[in-house]
Amino acid sequence: MVMALISLLPWLQNCLSFLFSVFTTIFLLFSLLLLLLRSRPWCNCHVCKAYLSSSWTGEFTNLCDWYTHLLRQSPTRTINIHVLGNTVTANPDNVEYMLATRFANFPKGKPFSSLLGDLLGRGIFNVDGESWQFQRKMASLELGSVSVRSYAFHIVSAEVRRRLIPLFTSVSDGGGAAAAAAAAGVIDLQDVFRRFAFDNICKISFGLDPGCLEASLPISEFAAAFDTASRMSALRGTAVAPAVWKLKRLLNLGSERELKRAIRLVDELADELIRQRRKLGYASSHDLLSRFMCSVNDDRYLRDIVISFLLAGRDTVASGLTCFFLLLSKHPEVTAAIRDEIADVIGGSGDDELASFEQLKKMHYVHAAMYESLRLYPPVQIDSKFCVEDDMLPDGTFVRKGTRVTYHPYAMGRMERIWGPDCEEFKPERWLRDGKFVPASPFKYPVFQAGLRVCLGKEMALMEMKTVIVSVVPRFDVQVLDAGRSPKFAPGLAASIDGGLPAQVRRRSSGEQTPAHGAC
Ligand code: HEM
Repeated sequence: MVMALISLLPWLQNCLSFLFSVFTTIFLLFSLLLLLLRSRPWCNCHVCKAYLSSSWTGEFTNLCDWYTHLLRQSPTRTINIHVLGNTVTANPDNVEYMLATRFANFPKGKPFSSLLGDLLGRGIFNVDGESWQFQRKMASLELGSVSVRSYAFHIVSAEVRRRLIPLFTSVSDGGGAAAAAAAAGVIDLQDVFRRFAFDNICKISFGLDPGCLEASLPISEFAAAFDTASRMSALRGTAVAPAVWKLKRLLNLGSERELKRAIRLVDELADELIRQRRKLGYASSHDLLSRFMCSVNDDRYLRDIVISFLLAGRDTVASGLTCFFLLLSKHPEVTAAIRDEIADVIGGSGDDELASFEQLKKMHYVHAAMYESLRLYPPVQIDSKFCVEDDMLPDGTFVRKGTRVTYHPYAMGRMERIWGPDCEEFKPERWLRDGKFVPASPFKYPVFQAGLRVCLGKEMALMEMKTVIVSVVPRFDVQVLDAGRSPKFAPGLAASIDGGLPAQVRRRSSGEQTPAHGAC
């Protein structure tokens, strides 16, 4: 009897594993069905049809331009993309409701954390609740402290003086760096500003210098892996159903394989940076990693924390600067006004002097020009939350539990109902009253988000951008080639221009006047 039972064991094993496979398959199919039912991929409305067939590309260069068009037409300034299960709004009342009044009902949520989870882990960008509160408290203490602000200003000024100005000078003289292009006085501004922002944020976050903006414009393995990882993570967000990228990840296929490889490299390099920081000592260092090291022992958590800061501080600043110089190329009158203000504040204090922190604060017109440029080209064009419980937005839009709700800073910057009939024009004056900068409500202008999760690096980012503008504009004429063409954005977490932004750089002689018309 016992022998008979033993002989049946392999058969029983086979039966059990067969049943297990059947059960798993049914479970997977059922989950897929639920996902499909939720995202309504069959929706036949004209918006969903245009989205699925990409027919909008016939009329619009970028998805954000098409959404802007739809949002302008909507009486509530809110639309639904049913196939994506996404409610998109450009209504400031809704934005205030999501980001402040009903903050707890609109967290980042699990779907977002899973999109970026492999890259960001438990970093501030990717978490809600206690872990977010802990990191937010620590980081706001650090980023708000006078010593860290002056440490950051010192780092940024040094990068401008030692690398950015010499690079522009050598390109203008037709030599140095990226040889062939530089010979014609041409350089890719987007690439330069990415390198610049990466050096700065690595120094501020880790206290270590990757030297990406050195004269030879070296290729940084870390920067390249980081680029790939954030691009591939952003690509996940464009899939009609999350099941698509999840299956690709499970099978290690295509973009998911590339993402895995890039993240492995980011991990190795981040681990090395953490090891180096520990070896060099952290108790008296001002960088963010050292500050967090004083209260966190877990190296994986430390890695996640600083990777979020790299993501936050690199492409955003680079995107802000790139689009600023694109707009400036088309507006010589703004360039001239900036030069006048700089000359008024700094005076003729010599070619080698950079503006001090106090002098930067006095430049209201430059500040207004930065805000105006970020209004038209926000580095974070869209930002999504997930609704926890059924809710009703102030404009009367019903939001079902689990729906993705997106506010759209790019569209909001181009809404006549917020900025008036000249909303598409680049006019720094709209931010000035009696020559002084006056901010707008952050819910109308959520370029740095708003409410409880407002960007923690806003002041640092503005300081970084202003230092570059105030150092470059009086010294060089920077003319973007083909500035008249509207930019085409590449998919990514922060807005970047497809193909970069080539520009001609020419050193100015002292006392030179700004031409009345741009070359475009
Ligand atoms: C022009 C440059 C920048 C822009 C437009 C910008 C914009 C934003 C936006 C829209 C968010 C919300 C993102 C989300 O919730 O998904 C955000 C969050 C954040 N930003 Fe920035 N940012 C900039 C630069 C920086 C810099 C330089 C740093 C760091 C040094 C930084 C640190 C952060 C952090 C830590 C958060 C997360 C805040 C939280 O979740 O509580 N940002 N930023």
